[in-house]
Formats: sequence, C-alpha cells, structure tokens
Amino acid sequence: MPQEGPLTPSCGSVAHSCARDNSAAGRYPSRMPAWKHHVFVCTNQRPAGHPKGSCGEKGSPELLSALKGAVDAHDLHDTVKVTGSGCLGPCARGITMVVYPEGTWYGGVTLADVPELVQTHLVEGRPVARLVLE
Ligand code: FES
Repeated sequence: MPQEGPLTPSCGSVAHSCARDNSAAGRYPSRMPAWKHHVFVCTNQRPAGHPKGSCGEKGSPELLSALKGAVDAHDLHDTVKVTGSGCLGPCARGITMVVYPEGTWYGGVTLADVPELVQTHLVEGRPVARLVLE
C-alpha cells in the first residue's frame, strides 16, 4: 500500500485531511488582481412572459460575449474584467450592467453600444452619459 506524506491541514479544515501542503508558494497568487474596471453584465433569464422581463431575454449573453471580445481586441484583459451576473435589480431598464470601482450603472444597453462603452469608459475613463441609469 502506498505511503502518503504527513497530513498538513493547511486548507484550514479540521475535517479535511490534505496529503499535500496546499500553502506551497506558487499554488495560489500572492494577491488577487487589481482590476482598473470590473464590469458586471446581468445575464439573468426569466421564463418568457414573466412580468418583470429579464436581461437574458433581451440578449445579454450575446452582449456579454461581445464585450469580452472587445476588451480582448483592445488588449485590456490585464486591466479590465468582464463578468456575467445574476439579476442586478433594474430589470425593466435592462440590459443592465455596472462598472466598478466607480459604480456606474448602465441600462438599455445593446450590442451596438459595446464599441462606445469600451472606448469611452474602459479606455478613456469617461462614462457614456446617454446610457447611465439615474
Ligand atoms: S434581469 Fe437584469 S437587472 Fe434584473
């Protein structure tokens, strides 16, 4: 029977018995990335006919994909993170997205808005006023 090394509960769980030392340098980054902008796009999908509607039924998965592609095309992947999210709240005004750390909320976003959002907000750092939710 193979011998395992000494148990090192470095994961912090009393019940778990790791056979390896997970705290070894290089296994995890020493610190998480500090994004200049983190964009959340609502991809919540409600059933057809739901009274609240949803960003998903308005095409947010395609918008999320286009936004990620535009970020890559502008070589922003080291400074901008784009993430799909659940419902962000203002469903009737979707497609909804929010950009942190500045906390700029956008509504009624369409695929056609992606180039302007990337260039104006994510490259130049200025919100696209016509899409900002108030
Ligand atoms: S479904 Fe998108 S904000 Fe609620």
